[in-house]
Amino acid sequence: MQQLSGRTAVITGAASGMGRAFANRFAQAGMNVVMSDIEEPRLDEAVAEVAAHGTRVIGQITDVADGASVDELAERSFAEFDAVHLVCNNAGVAGGPSPDFINEANWRWVLDVNLWGVIHGHRAFLPRMIEQGGGHVVNTSSMAGHLPGHSPYTASKWAVVGISQGLYHQMQREKTGVGISCLCPGFVRTEIINSDRNRPESAAPPALYEPTAQEEMATLFMQEMVKGGRPPSEVADLVHDAVVDDRFWIFTDLEMVKTLQEKHDSIMENRNPASFGPLDS
Ligand SMILES: NC(=O)c1ccc[n+]([C@@H]2O[C@H](COP(=O)([O-])OP(=O)(O)OC[C@H]3O[C@@H](n4cnc5c(N)ncnc54)[C@H](O)[C@@H]3O)[C@@H](O)[C@H]2O)c1
Repeated sequence: MQQLSGRTAVITGAASGMGRAFANRFAQAGMNVVMSDIEEPRLDEAVAEVAAHGTRVIGQITDVADGASVDELAERSFAEFDAVHLVCNNAGVAGGPSPDFINEANWRWVLDVNLWGVIHGHRAFLPRMIEQGGGHVVNTSSMAGHLPGHSPYTASKWAVVGISQGLYHQMQREKTGVGISCLCPGFVRTEIINSDRNRPESAAPPALYEPTAQEEMATLFMQEMVKGGRPPSEVADLVHDAVVDDRFWIFTDLEMVKTLQEKHDSIMENRNPASFGPLDS
């Protein structure tokens, strides 16, 4: 989508981290922006920041896990602006440190936000984008969407890669004019490690649960990697360029991408996969 100026972007999870950086980047490119998030005070602050670029920016409290809430976001976006040209399905939660394989509520929370959030975004926005003649959708997956891991986060991100690829082919085949990108970041310096701030009561870990040494080590490793990750503004530049050039894959860490070679080799050679080290679970 080469023309951005004067057009409209809708971004979920826009109060913090990458979503906020996308909002700033697309406003800088002259787009009007609908910023949505579940966290109200932070969203208000982020809207004020992004509005300083001079385009029209509005905020809408949205829980992406709730289909009706995403429908309201779409209604408001199309009502306030003539059309929606870019949708970034970006809101997400990490879901740890918690007993990922014994707590069903935790599985549901992470899948509801990370996977159903994307599905609701497609359902609520795509038909009207197709009707208006095109646009672009960016789905945020992760390198966790390519690497092994027995966790709801991994399950959600693999699913986002799969449905994004399927949607890409469908949009091409049907010549809808809607481009699709799948963002698969490595580590990025955001608040993702504090996702528990949005954890619903229903997904609380059992009171007596004590994380294993292995879980604690994995958590510490993740915290350090995220703290040392790429700045969100750099990822926003990559996303901006991928939208303009209509590119599907957006990777932020090419060294991590190289580790995927082993997986493909094991498939081609029909042998068991080798260990991926600290990210194995
Ligand atoms: N930071 C990383 O290292 C990294 C790596 C790979 C993928 N990701 C993905 O990037 C995306 C953005 O996360 P981030 O790293 O910027 O983290 P972040 O915590 O800084 O931002 C995530 C935003 O999503 C919002 N959110 C959470 N639950 C929500 C819900 N139910 N409805 C609406 N909004 C909700 C949060 O309030 C927050 O503003 C996520 O999908 C995440 O899984 C992050």
